[in-house]
Order: sequence, then structure tokens, then C-alpha cells
Amino acid sequence: MCAKEKPVNILGIETSCDETAAAVVAGGKIIKFSVVASQTKLHEKYGGVVPEIASRAHIEKIYQVIAEAISQAEVSKDDIDAIAVANQPGLTVALVVGVTAAKTLSFAWDKPLIAINHLHAHIQSAIFNERSIKLPAVALIVSGGHTSLYDYQSPLEPKLLGSTIDDAAGEAFDKVATILKLPYPGGPAIEKIARKGNPDAIRFPRSMLGAESLDFSFSGIKTAVLYYCRGQDMKGENRIDSMDEKEIADIAASFQAAVVDVLVKKTRLAAEKIGAETVLLGGGVAANTELRIAVQQMCDSTASAKKLFVAPKQYCTDNAVMVASLAYHKFKAGLFADLTLEPKVTS
Ligand code: KG4
Ligand code: ZN
Repeated sequence: MCAKEKPVNILGIETSCDETAAAVVAGGKIIKFSVVASQTKLHEKYGGVVPEIASRAHIEKIYQVIAEAISQAEVSKDDIDAIAVANQPGLTVALVVGVTAAKTLSFAWDKPLIAINHLHAHIQSAIFNERSIKLPAVALIVSGGHTSLYDYQSPLEPKLLGSTIDDAAGEAFDKVATILKLPYPGGPAIEKIARKGNPDAIRFPRSMLGAESLDFSFSGIKTAVLYYCRGQDMKGENRIDSMDEKEIADIAASFQAAVVDVLVKKTRLAAEKIGAETVLLGGGVAANTELRIAVQQMCDSTASAKKLFVAPKQYCTDNAVMVASLAYHKFKAGLFADLTLEPKVTS
């Protein structure tokens, strides 16, 4: 009888924006423990992430979060096979905290270091639990900082097909929420009030950037909402304070419908272009129920039906499970970083 192979345990660390997260994942799939310390309360009064505040909060929390992941996972440092960290893209002052912690542990514990692209990790969050998927796949990653479409052939090298030329989809949700005086983060707040609104009430623009383009632009729709509330070129009075809940709900629902419409159309176009058999959906905005439903409908209604894999809601927003899970594939491929690893603002 051959001895059972010990699964590879990876400690993942994530600090690219406003969540300080750590997780221990075995064999790329089994979540031994995951912890996310959210900074939402610190940033909400500014209506967005303030980099300096994010960086300080990561420094305060990073030790505690890593220690908690390891102790709750009931592993010791000897059971950890590698340390993985998201080193790009993100806020440099935030990334540097996770990268420094990961390099320190890698050196002190003599464990291999694995560098992870945060967006590629978001793709992984849609499939970390799956045994196999039919390829090629199109991956749509929609977050606060990015909106990107990928041709996904392997976990190691997703190929970028298109991305936003201005605001990310999540950023548009957050900014429109600020205009509508809804709480931060805007995505969940808009989704909640939009349930009471009519998505056909206002026809906000859908920027497609040309019939064949796989890039996105969401700054126009944000401005359209602003002008709707404040008059063209902001020359009118701010009507928000005098609007009743129904009118705000109609604006939120109509805005959400326009964003979802663009995301779904571009994903369909990308799927057609690469002959995708599968669609993957991840990132914070992928927690949005209307988007999840619309992408599912698109997958079911195309001539050759596509299978959709969506990240579980708790792993749509930033977390370290996706980092540790993707790192497993890099571990198997022997793709390690060294102590010169640095954070990178872009990918
Ligand atoms: O992936 P994520 O946690 O951070 C980045 O990598 O940027 O995404 C955060 C974004 C925020 O803009 C937030 O408003 C948006 O995801 N978001 C949502 C929902 N939940 C979070 N957007 C729409 N609907 C939601 N339910
Ligand atoms: Zn993210």
C-alpha cells in the first residue's frame, strides 16, 4: 500500500486594496481557514479607499490576520509548504505590506515564495473547487479597480482581451452611490435599493466603444447619472435631497441595468471571438445578483450553451483563498519568486 501523499498547504496573503486577508488552503481547494479584516468603516466617510489610511490599517492588522489563519487552520509553520502573496495590481502602499510580510515569513521559515497577480486570483475564485472545466473559457473580472476580460486557457497565463479605459465597474457603482447619497461601498447599497426600482425608468447610455471592442468605459454613465440629478453640466440644483425613495430606486435600478447590459454584451462578444465553452465570473461586482442572473441567461441563450462558473459570493470580494488557491498551480509548476519581489501598481 502506498503512503497517502500529503496535500500542499499554502499560506496566502492579500493586501492589494482595503482588505487585509490571509488563508491556508490545502491542495488548491480545501480551505483550512480564511480571514478577512475589512477596512470599510475607515473609508466610508470618504466614499472611496484612501491609500494612506489603507496602508496604515494593513500594517496594524497583518500580523494578527496571519497568526489567526495559521492557528485556526490548526497547522504549524512546519506544515506550510509555501507563502503566496498578491503583489500586483493594486495600491503600492497597500501591496507593500503583504509583500513585506510574505518575504519576511519566506526568509524566516525558509519556505518558497510565490507571487500572485490579484486579477488572475479573482478568476481562480470562480473555479477553485472544480475538478475540470472545458476550455477555452472567457473570464470576466469586475472589481472596484478593474474590469477585464480574459482568454483563459490555463491558470498560469490568462490572456487579457480587453479592460476598462477609464473607471472600473465597481468604481462606477461606488461613485454613483456617492451621487445618490447611499452608503459606501456603493455596489451592495445600489443593489439593495435597486430592488425597489424600475430598471427601465431611465435609459442611461451604454458605452460600447465600437461593435468589436472588448474594452470598457464606465465614466460616461457615471456623468449621465450626475447630470440627471444635477442638471446638464451640473448647472441645475441638486435634486437628490428632494427625491423620494422611489425615484432614487429607479435611478439605481436603471444605472445597474445599463452596467450589467454592457458587461454581458462584451462577455458574449469575447466568448464568440475565442469560441469559449465556458464563462468564468469573479471580482467584487460579481456578487451582484442581477449580473449573475444576466450572465447565466446569456450563457444559456447562446447557440452553443456555455457553462458558467461564478465565484461564491463570499469569495467575490478580496480574500486570500483565491491567492493561496492559484499559488498551488504555480507551486506545482515550480514558479517561485525571490526576496527581490516588489509590489506593482499595474499588472
Ligand atoms: O474585488 P473587490 O473586493 O476589490 C477590488 O479588487 O477592487 O471589489 C470591490 C468592489 C467595490 O467597488 C464594490 O462596490 C463592488 O465591488 N461590489 C459590488 C457588490 N458588492 C461589491 N458591486 C455591485 N453589486 C454588489 N453586490
Ligand atoms: Zn479585487
